[in-house]
Amino acid sequence: RIAGPCGLVIFGVTGDLSRRKLMPAIYDLANRGLLPPGFALTGFARREWATQDFRKVVHDAVREHARTPFRQDVWDRLGEGLRFVQGSFDDDVAFDRLAETVRELDEVRGTGGNHAFYLSVPPKAFPLVCRQLARSGLSDPTASTDQWRRVVIEKPFGHDLHSAQDLNRIVNEVFPEESVFRIDHYLGKETVQNILALRFANQLFEPLWNAHYVDHVQITMAEDIGLGGRAGYYDGIGAARDVIQNHLLQLLALTAMEEPVSFHPRALRTEKVKVLAATRPMVPFAETTARGQYTGGWQGGQKVPGLLNEGGFASDSVTETYAAMTMEVNTRRWAGVPFYLRSGKRLGRRVTEIAVVFKRAPHLPFDATATEELGENALVIRVQPDEGVTMRFGSKVPGTAMQIRDVTMDFGYGHAFTEDSPEAYERLLLDVLLGEPSLFPMNEEVELSWRILDPVLESWHAEGTPEPYAAGTWGPPSADRMLARTGRHWRRP
Ligand code: BG6
Repeated sequence: RIAGPCGLVIFGVTGDLSRRKLMPAIYDLANRGLLPPGFALTGFARREWATQDFRKVVHDAVREHARTPFRQDVWDRLGEGLRFVQGSFDDDVAFDRLAETVRELDEVRGTGGNHAFYLSVPPKAFPLVCRQLARSGLSDPTASTDQWRRVVIEKPFGHDLHSAQDLNRIVNEVFPEESVFRIDHYLGKETVQNILALRFANQLFEPLWNAHYVDHVQITMAEDIGLGGRAGYYDGIGAARDVIQNHLLQLLALTAMEEPVSFHPRALRTEKVKVLAATRPMVPFAETTARGQYTGGWQGGQKVPGLLNEGGFASDSVTETYAAMTMEVNTRRWAGVPFYLRSGKRLGRRVTEIAVVFKRAPHLPFDATATEELGENALVIRVQPDEGVTMRFGSKVPGTAMQIRDVTMDFGYGHAFTEDSPEAYERLLLDVLLGEPSLFPMNEEVELSWRILDPVLESWHAEGTPEPYAAGTWGPPSADRMLARTGRHWRRP
């Protein structure tokens, strides 16, 4: 679907996200013919730029990061719709200028009074920007009821339940919930959307997708990068707030939810809300959670510094760069099945996956030696980077003896499809402009996620420091103990 007449305003347009993701995504959408011809992109920031400077920045970002080839005609058309408004968030005059710019765009570009406001700014600035949007009349399309105004909000959405509720209240005072688009870019990933196709378009998996057959689920988001240059955002936030509250709990919700009655956004969100409401972190936290902080080590043949030696982090920072926790989903389907979530920086390699690990067959009619090398059956959804699905099961080793060993059956996107999948931000930005909310967590989901996480964070806060782990390893020893206690072990992806 192609977006109708509209414009996008980005606050915090001088930031990294805007340059690396948003500007290239806009260009790619234009290049694929998915934006209206008169589309307008307005940047708002404190920087002393003229529209010309902004145009150059967007141009360079597109040349460097866009996924589709550069085409002069596409760029020229897009370039004409670029504007820059200089000002700070407490500057009424600047917002009035922005309102004037938006009105002018309606006339010269035909944006039709339809505008989205992307808040790529620190959360403490959300309330002020929302108030300014209301004050200057930008949040409200008074001219006609067909026109729309939407707000797009980047994470972190609060730092605990209380602050998330406050933010939701402030945002919802200005924008009704159906006009609020909270970004969780994991939901824009092709492989994440495929979870629902895999589960609900097939007969093969769903009959086994429950506590009768599943032993446990492991959701891993491992990264090899460190936090150099990100202290301003990350110090005091940590892995649990950065990615478990949003990405990993969304993956859990999609894995554990019931079948929605339809793919209508409301039906989908209803099921996610239900499963999140039934999810709790398992106690006691000393046994069911682990947290770590990377120290110096080796990665990809290179020596890398520990967190405390990355510029900008306090020398006594207790920010965790690794977090693992055990969730229980208190529904009939999942009673007694632990969901293990883990995420860390500077781990062995970059990989995100969901592994559904099955119980052993109730009876094995073989000699004990025949099954010595047989592990548990598993279905692994490989979210990234090697996108696909792996099924692991036992198979007879060729030969005269009955010997059984694990083998895998693989589906890889690269082999199965020739279609290219859009970048997550491309997909999500288009959905904002189309007013398609399915891939955006609603206020209730965000609050439920904090409700799940808060007790763990409070106990960690009370309890002192994270455990060190060397860069390039798979996290702190306590994470291994956490699973070993129940006779399980983490997969080595
Ligand atoms: C972001 C986190 O949401 O996701 C980052 O703030 C993390 O810390 C990033 O590096 C990972 O995204 P992706 O798409 O590379 O897995």
